[in-house]
Amino acid sequence: MDAFLIRGGRRLDGEYRVQNAKNAALPIMAASILTEEKTLLKGCPALSDIRNMGEILKTLGCRVHMDGGDLTIDPQGLSSYEMPDGLAKKLRSSIFMLGPILARFHKATVTFPGGCEIGLRPIDLHLKGLKQLNVSIRNEGGVICCDGHHMQPGNVHFDYPSVGATENIMMAAVLLKGVTTIHNAAREPEIVDLQNFLNRMGAKIAGAGTDTIQIQGVYRLHGVEYTPMADRIVAGTLMAAAAVTSGHIRLTNVPVQDMVAIMAKLEEMGCLITRKQEEIILRAPDRLRAFSQLQTQPHPGFPTDMQAQMMAIATLAKETSVVVENVFENRFAHAGDLNRMGARIILNGRTAVIHGVEGLNGLSVTARDLRGGAALAIAGLAARGETLVEKAEYIDRGYDRLEDALCSLGGDVRRIILP
Ligand code: EPZ
Repeated sequence: MDAFLIRGGRRLDGEYRVQNAKNAALPIMAASILTEEKTLLKGCPALSDIRNMGEILKTLGCRVHMDGGDLTIDPQGLSSYEMPDGLAKKLRSSIFMLGPILARFHKATVTFPGGCEIGLRPIDLHLKGLKQLNVSIRNEGGVICCDGHHMQPGNVHFDYPSVGATENIMMAAVLLKGVTTIHNAAREPEIVDLQNFLNRMGAKIAGAGTDTIQIQGVYRLHGVEYTPMADRIVAGTLMAAAAVTSGHIRLTNVPVQDMVAIMAKLEEMGCLITRKQEEIILRAPDRLRAFSQLQTQPHPGFPTDMQAQMMAIATLAKETSVVVENVFENRFAHAGDLNRMGARIILNGRTAVIHGVEGLNGLSVTARDLRGGAALAIAGLAARGETLVEKAEYIDRGYDRLEDALCSLGGDVRRIILP
């Protein structure tokens, strides 16, 4: 098992180029089977989630080759509409395959991806959206059998702006003759990136980034070369790490326009942030101020994927901060270990009250989910002594060697292998 050994007390000072986004690359990989031609994704981060999605594509008959950051997907051998059992549970994002498989085969069988560390992660909105396109769906002992032979374009309305469900319907409708409109669509930047990728392939989609997306079905799509957008959550994570260490960093390859909520919260805490085209410079104060409250919301609200990192830095701020996690029902797993390090966090349902303390003590802690693990690493950077973050494989799901990023910014972080 991998772990991060972090020696605290060093200011982050330096510059770093942010990786491209996992949550853009994953749906784009799924969408690559919507054509029979090859797709080349450039600048793909080296993440376990990316590798697992590649394995799923291979089991469906595609050829997948990763060379450094360049990922080639050749769907010519695509032959199966059946998602391999077990892989769905291994990778939640496998549900993104449902829409593209239906678009290609007009039928699909997938297993329920199941919950994960941060919540039950149901897929009712995905299935309800497909039913609104006249897909018939049967649940046969946990296997979802979809018959899309009578799929029709039309209006899909989401009760909640689900990111994955929005992406799935976009991909299910892109080859469907006629016009499909998604109402109450999710507005995340990664959905705009998926639209850009599909339109580059020859699709006719408009409205991504707003709550209404219109897909005009086309006859066929062609293979492309594409670079997924930069990762706003990784950028925000590194900014939070600099903020809590009184740091001064410059980040490049940053989707600045998609980080308004994150930057506003860090500025509320006393950070000075200079924005340029695709880069930011952050100067942190000696000690952060509390934020009055942080409510996670669908985009453009504050992103739930930054909640844990902001809680970590709030533990050392002056005064008291309040976090409300509105998106996932179980996303405070990091609070226990932060309190063991000396933080004063009180949880009550989806609300966390964080009373700032003067210092944290390094000790052995355990990552329980991707962003919670990153939060514990951030806390370790500011803690006295050494912090060991166990189960770093959670962090590897979304961060391309986070230890290298933090070290290049002046942190003392080593990856060690525990027996
Ligand atoms: C995407 O997950 C991201 N993952 C998540 O990032 C991110 O936290 C989430 O969007 C919200 O921004 C990828 O893009 C691969 P949702 P997704 O559907 O699509 C409920 C990370 O750390 N819901 O918008 O699964 C759901 O349970 C990961 O990088 C239903 O009830 O998110 C949750 O409470 C974590 N029924 C809420 O909606 C459904 O059918 C938001 O989920 C679908 C979702």
